Amino acid sequence: MEPQSQVPSLPDGHVTVLLKEAVEALNPKSGGTYIDGTFGGGGHSSMLLERLTGNASLYAIDADPDAIARAQQLAHLPLGSGVRPVHANFRNLQQVARDHEIADVDGVLLDLGLSSFQLDRAERGFAFRFDGPLDMRFDPTQGPSAADLLNTLDTDGLAHLLWHYGEESNSRRIAREIIARRETAPIETTTDLAALVERTVGGRRGKAIHPATKTFQALRIAVNDELTALGHVLAVAVALLKPGGRLVVIAFHSLEDRLVKQFIARESATCICPPEQPVCTCDHTPRLRRIGKPVKPDPSEISTNPRSRSAIMRIAERLPVPETTTMMRSTT
Ligand SMILES: C[S@@+](CC[C@H](N)C(=O)[O-])C[C@H]1O[C@@H](n2cnc3c(N)ncnc32)[C@H](O)[C@@H]1O
Repeated sequence: MEPQSQVPSLPDGHVTVLLKEAVEALNPKSGGTYIDGTFGGGGHSSMLLERLTGNASLYAIDADPDAIARAQQLAHLPLGSGVRPVHANFRNLQQVARDHEIADVDGVLLDLGLSSFQLDRAERGFAFRFDGPLDMRFDPTQGPSAADLLNTLDTDGLAHLLWHYGEESNSRRIAREIIARRETAPIETTTDLAALVERTVGGRRGKAIHPATKTFQALRIAVNDELTALGHVLAVAVALLKPGGRLVVIAFHSLEDRLVKQFIARESATCICPPEQPVCTCDHTPRLRRIGKPVKPDPSEISTNPRSRSAIMRIAERLPVPETTTMMRSTT
């Protein structure tokens, strides 16, 4: 029988995806330093703390002030003495590392997207099943909301957003409808937008997903500039990892997973010259080694937590810095 978990109970709401798998992938080391870039409800962080012995540090980062309040609760528990809550967007990881004098780390975890705490609160505006303001910001204190984008972009801008971030095949029709509707009144609520999309592309008609799903995904990605943030955090994370340190990323849609996959492939390659080039001239030094195949939730996890069905986890390990680079560094 599995031993009972000692993970402290944080407020109910979010069921952590690939919990054991992600923590094991981080390969927790006694006294290590870790970054959880997406603290959320603290599920991964709590189990990681359980596995860490010695004087470990865990930087619990989240853009959402509510998640940071939960990280502070965890920090007050005996298990959480190594927790350092940091309210920040992970796109600013370099600044966070500077501010907190983090020289290097043993692991970085990113469990992308949003938590059920956010999804299930009408006032955050992430879900069309609740009537709420169209906000969708991970950090409601920063930047334009979804309503701001919807009510200011032109037809091309809206169509581009829906197509690129939502892979919405009716992007132009929906964009035109939004612009037409704006002439009478701004679109301000989740149910208002969902109804507009439904009227434009037709009802559900037996489809498994609601017709507004892709529109909502696209807006959320745009509002939080999620793909740019991911690109920034990956680049800084790899530079912060110690040799043998682990990068573990859980993605929930193909756009972010593609970015993670391509990043790891490039950082693991010995040559990044264009394939048509006969001789290598890039002098590229791989910094990562891919660990195993991408991991997906098993059927039992999917049946107990359907939200996990689209999750895909990729793992990579920092390679030692080659000697020539080390020598160059020590002589400069
Ligand atoms: C899927 S939840 C994480 C759940 C967490 N692993 C757990 O076990 O409870 C994702 C979290 O990442 C945060 N987040 C998403 N993008 C972020 C970003 N660019 N910077 C900081 N936090 C971000 C969200 O606010 C949300 O709380």
